[in-house]
Amino acid sequence: MKGLVLAGGRGTRLRPLTYTMAKQLVPVANRPIIHYVMDQIAAVGIREVGVVIAPETGDQIQAALAENPWGLSFTFIVQDEPKGLAHAVMVARDYLGDEPFLMYLGDNLIGQSIESLVEEFRNSRPEALILLKPVEDPRMFGVAAVDGKGNVLRLVEKPKDPPSNLALVGIYLFSPAIHEAIGRIKPSFRGELEITDAIQELLDAGKRVRSHVLEGWWLDTGKKDDLLEANRVVLDELINRELSGEVDGESRIVGRVKVEVGARIERSTVRGPVVIGAGSVVRDAFIGPYTSVGRNCHIEGTALEHSVVLDGARLVNIERLEDSIIGRNAVVAGGKQNSKALRLMIGDDAEVNI
Ligand code: TTP
Repeated sequence: MKGLVLAGGRGTRLRPLTYTMAKQLVPVANRPIIHYVMDQIAAVGIREVGVVIAPETGDQIQAALAENPWGLSFTFIVQDEPKGLAHAVMVARDYLGDEPFLMYLGDNLIGQSIESLVEEFRNSRPEALILLKPVEDPRMFGVAAVDGKGNVLRLVEKPKDPPSNLALVGIYLFSPAIHEAIGRIKPSFRGELEITDAIQELLDAGKRVRSHVLEGWWLDTGKKDDLLEANRVVLDELINRELSGEVDGESRIVGRVKVEVGARIERSTVRGPVVIGAGSVVRDAFIGPYTSVGRNCHIEGTALEHSVVLDGARLVNIERLEDSIIGRNAVVAGGKQNSKALRLMIGDDAEVNI
């Protein structure tokens, strides 16, 4: 079985970060999201992975996967324009051949292994197996109606009147029958070839589509708050206390804090779960729970919590910063004496709540 990771798209909801960076590379607990995706795929024994990339950000994705600790065999497939998830499968048609495949959206994170899903697909051979998660407001998602045994009866994309509270998580298993189904669908009102329409097409043709309900968490990192939530959950689950950098005698490190090699903490308090990336300096600062600081950052005279700070950013004299995402090499400087007189220089679409 092959893997197909979708790492194209526009990422409009995560601007301004995605003007300069592929959405799938935004870090969660200091690792690009797509690395967690590859962990999952490698763990179920898949070795060959097609990665759908956009012309604008494809180079970045290739560079981020170059080290390849998973030993996977990657094939990069360019999708000229993001014309939908089913369109991405169409572009990968030759690569996929007549094999079944696991499709994984490159910006989705889940909190459990996909082993049982893959096992059921291998054993019972439906034409498609989809992963579902109960959500509070299903109207923003693809939604499935299922019978009591996990057979999918019907799928609807962003329904006004949802048939259930079960949303489609971005992880799917398909037999090659999906290619014919994609060949029969038309673009939706938003101009995209929707994978939900292709799966509905399988159902209309009388094929068997099964579902699994995900018990652990699911995070779709499409928007700022989703990304902060993903960072919170992953820090909570994965970070252990590990002080590989320097911490001076006047600093207090409380709880699960990872200080990477070459990072320096001076006269500061850091309260975990927190990760501080290699080469970063934290001076006269407070770093509160659920914060990831990237590599080579400089944080001085600042109180920061529940935030993601990307590589090379500088935060100086900010009295209080929270629920924030700070782009690479961004500079945010404030005046401690008069915190209302902050001067900020930030990118398009950035959001500042002072
Ligand atoms: P989406 O989040 O649905 O789309 P997007 O990345 O264009 O984001 P936005 O709505 O904020 O503009 O995409 C889910 C995943 O699939 C994501 O990793 C990007 C990828 N994708 C493709 O590779 N090709 C496509 O044509 C589309 C629509 C998405």
